[in-house]
Amino acid sequence: QELTVAWDARHAVVAAADLEKRLAGDAVDITLPGRRPVLGAAHPVSRMIDELSEIFALLGFETAFGPEIETSYYNFDQLNIPSDHPARDVWDTIHIDLPGEIVLRTHTSPMQARIMEKSGPPVRVVVPGRVYRYEAQDASHEWMFHQLEGLAVDRNITMADLKGTLAELARQLFGSERRIRVRCDFFPFVEPGVDFAVDCAICGGKGCRVCKGSGWLEMGGAGMVHPNVLRAVGYDPDQVSGFAFGLGIERLVMMRSGVDDLRAFAANDLRFLRQFASAV
Ligand code: PHE
Repeated sequence: QELTVAWDARHAVVAAADLEKRLAGDAVDITLPGRRPVLGAAHPVSRMIDELSEIFALLGFETAFGPEIETSYYNFDQLNIPSDHPARDVWDTIHIDLPGEIVLRTHTSPMQARIMEKSGPPVRVVVPGRVYRYEAQDASHEWMFHQLEGLAVDRNITMADLKGTLAELARQLFGSERRIRVRCDFFPFVEPGVDFAVDCAICGGKGCRVCKGSGWLEMGGAGMVHPNVLRAVGYDPDQVSGFAFGLGIERLVMMRSGVDDLRAFAANDLRFLRQFASAV
């Protein structure tokens, strides 16, 4: 009994001292302000890609992705650009192998043939991704940038569908008042081919610094899919028709946020990137 009493007494002292020690070590000053955790955020280009995917999903387009290392077969031949055609020079190409059969894709258009080969019409798809060009860099040229390809093939698709789709895109991105302009241009894989622009949201088309006085901002190239491109994937151009367009994604971010140097997007300067990181 004596021993038990002594043990209990001593145990209480040791346990109390131990508790004291742990409490002292764990002391929390609840008056200190909290520490804000550092959160990452998606890159402005990734955000724009997500936004474009959502806009096009509402218009009935799926989103697909394709290889950045591409064969010249898909990058050029399947797009009605044979190897001896001078139009190849338009896309300053970075080659991977010596015979020139493997390239870094110069645009997202090679996915047109890849998609149509895999599934029959109807097709409604957008393809965002990186593209590469052998290019001297300046404020509006980079050797790597992002494009979004659009492709719709079905019975009775017309130029009016293309214009309606592009106008809806411009309004979703830049406001319901926006108008688009479509002018003749040449790309071997479309006929007719056009370039398209949106009226400047800053000045309402009157002309300002952002649109360089013209009232219009160039968005990309487009047109009706060339019959040769349809035939090359086994589609019958007498049965189906389609439109395609390609737009520069960095450009869209630049137009909306007033960034004036394309090189900023890949420079990894956190001071630049953080300006786009809203709390989502
Ligand atoms: N692929 C073209 C380019 O990068 C853009 C384009 C796409 C034009 C689809 C017409 C149709 O220059």
